Amino acid sequence: MSNTPHDHDEQKTQVQDYFSRTAESYVSSFSHKSGDDLQRLIELGEWDRQQQALDIATGGGHTALSVAPHVARVTVTDLTPRMLEKAREYLVAQGVTNAEFVVADAERLPFADATFDRVTCRIAAHHFPNVARSVQEVARVLKSGGIYLLIDCMAPSDPELDSFDNTVEKWRDSSHGRSCTPEEWQVFFTGAGLQVEHQEFFRKTHHYDDWTLRSQLPDNEKARLEQFILESSSRSQAYFEVVQRADGHLESFTNDFILLKGRKR
Ligand SMILES: C[S@@+](CC[C@H](N)C(=O)[O-])C[C@H]1O[C@@H](n2cnc3c(N)ncnc32)[C@H](O)[C@@H]1O
Repeated sequence: MSNTPHDHDEQKTQVQDYFSRTAESYVSSFSHKSGDDLQRLIELGEWDRQQQALDIATGGGHTALSVAPHVARVTVTDLTPRMLEKAREYLVAQGVTNAEFVVADAERLPFADATFDRVTCRIAAHHFPNVARSVQEVARVLKSGGIYLLIDCMAPSDPELDSFDNTVEKWRDSSHGRSCTPEEWQVFFTGAGLQVEHQEFFRKTHHYDDWTLRSQLPDNEKARLEQFILESSSRSQAYFEVVQRADGHLESFTNDFILLKGRKR
């Protein structure tokens, strides 16, 4: 992917278009609403009721909803105004009273240095054109000793599998930038002055019909992507646990996720 500022702006416009169109489906998405990863994020967060938390790229607001009961205040942010509005409606309907809502770009956070005790960002960094920059921004707004909890889809370290994973994700949603490898994440965290205290991996199975419906992939592209997956190498099919239905159509595939806990020195 090119690195020019113009391309970065274009990717952010694509993100806003995509999430403005699909906002409701991300609020109701079962795989965003639930999941052991949200539970793990809470278990690892070392919360207390005095803390100021920031949730970056909140999407439907599911991470902010989990964090809110554990902190004094959660600042809920997203690049896409319509998505943030949907998150606000959802959190208010769930009875959250300690949240504020700010439209914000993860790569240019509109907050002073050392404002937050905790920062979360779940299943979103693969949309950021400059992931390293977003981690530097998190480190800047964290207080010393503060914690960043990051969850994202992850590319395997093997180049063939990395390429398959990112091709499939970008085909399904053109606002996908890149799922990074664990090695890339280590560099981003340590380079920004965040000590990685914990990392874990998990996998998610995507049911092809739901997964493509949520992204509103047109039928012809859905069929082409299905063919690409079903005709991929046996190595890719085995790694991503490609499951074909009796009628020959693609049932599901499974890919990797990473959870990182980093502390600002
Ligand atoms: C899949 S949703 C996030 C899911 C959510 N965090 C959760 O836990 O359910 C991805 C979100 O990232 C937001 N986003 C993408 N690029 C962004 C950026 N550069 N800065 C802030 N938010 C961004 C999108 O607007 C979208 O709402």
